[in-house]
Amino acid sequence: MKTAKAVLSAALSFPAAVFAAAPLPPPPAPPRPPAVALPAPPPPQPAGRAIGEAGPHGKAILGLSAVERTDFATGRVEFVNVETPEGGLGPIFNDVSCVACHFQGGVGGASRIFVTRFGRITNGVFDPLTALGGPLLQRRAIATSVLETIPGEANVVARRLTTPLFGAGLLEAIPDAVLVAGAAVAKPDGVKGRVAMVKDVVSGTMRVGRFGWKAQEATLQAFSADAYLNEMGVTGRFFPQENAPNGNHTLLVGTDRVLDPEDALAVGATKSDSDLAADFMRLLAPVPPLPGAAPGSPGAAVFREMGCVVCHVPSLKTGPSPIAALANKPVGLYSDLLLHDMGKLGDGIAQPPATMTEMRTAPLWGLRLRDRYLHDGRASSLDAAILAHDGEAKIARDRYAKLTLAKRNALMVFLSSL
Ligand code: HEC
Ligand code: HEC
Repeated sequence: MKTAKAVLSAALSFPAAVFAAAPLPPPPAPPRPPAVALPAPPPPQPAGRAIGEAGPHGKAILGLSAVERTDFATGRVEFVNVETPEGGLGPIFNDVSCVACHFQGGVGGASRIFVTRFGRITNGVFDPLTALGGPLLQRRAIATSVLETIPGEANVVARRLTTPLFGAGLLEAIPDAVLVAGAAVAKPDGVKGRVAMVKDVVSGTMRVGRFGWKAQEATLQAFSADAYLNEMGVTGRFFPQENAPNGNHTLLVGTDRVLDPEDALAVGATKSDSDLAADFMRLLAPVPPLPGAAPGSPGAAVFREMGCVVCHVPSLKTGPSPIAALANKPVGLYSDLLLHDMGKLGDGIAQPPATMTEMRTAPLWGLRLRDRYLHDGRASSLDAAILAHDGEAKIARDRYAKLTLAKRNALMVFLSSL
């Protein structure tokens, strides 16, 4: 799959890749004891590499054509491919492959690994400190001399946990109009919710964002290109500018030695590596729910009664798609994919159009494969995750807090079966 970049860079010699890394903040607090015996939790995840290769999920969605199955396999190669400095990795980056962070339950899953965002809030206005390398920290570098750090000017630092990609193609295939209509519906409990209109770098058009904690991207091709640059330091045709360590472009001289765009289209090719990785994500099967999450189960009833479904909408429908397996299909995502003002649960990072307190309703499908919850992974139990809801979700949270033990247990069984 290597394009012009590999050929070009083969001629350059790099020092042995001494990957420098900044220290990580401490892990979240231990869980409250669970109230009930739940379905087996996922096995402990070493913060290691590529263990998802062994996971049972991360397979292709059913009903693909032979050509689509080949696209999935080809894309998977790129998704697990380890980038090297010679191939365009860095100079600053967060990890060396997509699967290094996306592996829980199989290739494409979530993980406990998080990235760090920073900025400065002055008189209630958020500044992403772009000139100082913000808002995303790249915590590793191909040489210690160019390591990025959180600048002293930053007064807000937020962690963002890795989200799962299972079923991502179904999320992508939900028409903008469905989400716009969902936002327009009157909701109980003072819940509002609005679409995140974002510019899609691929088509150049305004689209409804749906991927990421802030619904910051509308398409997988755009998110992939964004992640190639911002997580791995690999420039491409949609993001051709290398990230300079803390905004200092002189530090790129001598360390950024691969010609941009590093992930270039090979002569005659229509897809670069990041496009192929997007194909893989688009064709990933969703995680099938267990019987404990059936619509008629006691826990599903509690989930409705509590008003969780106002935001965590159980199912939406895809529209037309050139991929038959994705066209006009129900999507059991448990999200409206809208931005909600979450009050104190907001992450303090404005990522337009999302404000400092707005977050995307987290899809709950595949929840049973995870062991950390909420945007910063602060919750290591579902109970803690629900109790941390605030803002528009305050009324639902308060209802949950008053549940009888039996109903709370039923809800936990439901959530742990998704
Ligand atoms: C350093 C860890 C890390 C690496 C490497 C990484 N990701 Fe992610 N990924 C994350 C985190 C953290 C999020 C949530 C980010 C946010 O919302 O700000 C995320 C979110 C995503 C999402 C959005 C899914 C959703 O619905 O929320 C997609 C798509 C994605 N990553 C694709 C990729 C691809 C493709 C690659 C490889 C080019 C990649 N990621 C590499 C950590 C990583
Ligand atoms: C006003 C909309 C809203 C309501 C109502 C709501 N949620 Fe959420 N939920 C969210 C948002 C937004 C997030 C992501 C918050 C974050 O991490 O910043 C979330 C996250 C979660 C998570 C963590 C998911 C993850 O990926 O880490 C769980 C579990 C959850 N909600 C369960 C519930 C339950 C159970 C109820 C009902 C008692 C409920 N929610 C009510 C909006 C809502």
